[in-house]
Amino acid sequence: MPDQRSVLILGGGSDIGRAAGLAFAAKGWTVRLAGRDLQGLTREADDIRTRTGATVSVHRFDALDTPSFDGFLDGLPALPDAVVSAVGVLGDQGAAERDVAEATRIMRSNFEGPALILGLVANRFEARGSGTIVGISSVAGDRGRATNYIYGSAKAAFTAFLSGLRNRLARKGVHVVTVKPGFVRTRMTAGMALPGLLTVDPDVVGNAIYAAVEKRTDVVYVARAWQPVMFAIRSIPERLFKTMKI
Ligand SMILES: NC(=O)c1ccc[n+]([C@@H]2O[C@H](COP(=O)([O-])OP(=O)(O)OC[C@H]3O[C@@H](n4cnc5c(N)ncnc54)[C@H](OP(=O)(O)O)[C@@H]3O)[C@@H](O)[C@H]2O)c1
Repeated sequence: MPDQRSVLILGGGSDIGRAAGLAFAAKGWTVRLAGRDLQGLTREADDIRTRTGATVSVHRFDALDTPSFDGFLDGLPALPDAVVSAVGVLGDQGAAERDVAEATRIMRSNFEGPALILGLVANRFEARGSGTIVGISSVAGDRGRATNYIYGSAKAAFTAFLSGLRNRLARKGVHVVTVKPGFVRTRMTAGMALPGLLTVDPDVVGNAIYAAVEKRTDVVYVARAWQPVMFAIRSIPERLFKTMKI
């Protein structure tokens, strides 16, 4: 008997979102993939269906179109049991330092859009008394660094938002998971030199998301080494940190 639960994946066409979709589908969940590229999502839905036999649907969603959010949620076949936000944009830090439009795109895509849609989901889950929300944030939000503080500050805000939501809903039957993947070999990091020990493949993140939903974990550092690494980085005094190339 297949699991009757359903998961909505925002940014369902992302490498991590696709891996998460496959992980849930493999366990019999119904998967709803949402994003801007309906053609790409349809190909991906076909692939997940073929590999798992799960029910998979696709839905148009733009995280920058905040006025559409209520209508988007109303248009789903049913309120899902879990929602995962894999929406994000790394952007170009150098360009964003000079160009307000690029900085705005990075901030809105990594914080404003994901936080506002998950806030609306949270209200619906609270009214029902159940549900799990997963936000993919980043270790980049654990401390601002010269090379990526625009993306990092948006992720820091998203991490704080998820923490507050978890605190608000803890006694309401609604669980909130914050995922900090570390480096992942995806389209977003293509061409970057990534340290092997601190880097994982998307399927590892997908499985970690599924496990966190089932175990009701609060915060997940997918590659575990990132937790002590970020603890050490956060512990460096600011007067020293500002002189370091890190
Ligand atoms: N890769 C890493 O090392 C890493 C590390 C830490 C955290 N993360 C986070 O993991 C998540 C997934 O990233 P990924 O690595 O799998 O990269 P990715 O494949 O580039 O995924 C990014 C996703 O965000 C979607 N997106 C961007 N703007 C959107 C918008 N306005 N509306 C709807 N969807 C939008 C993209 O959709 P389109 O195809 O329509 O552009 C794409 O599906 C992101 O939140 C990212 O910040 C990644």
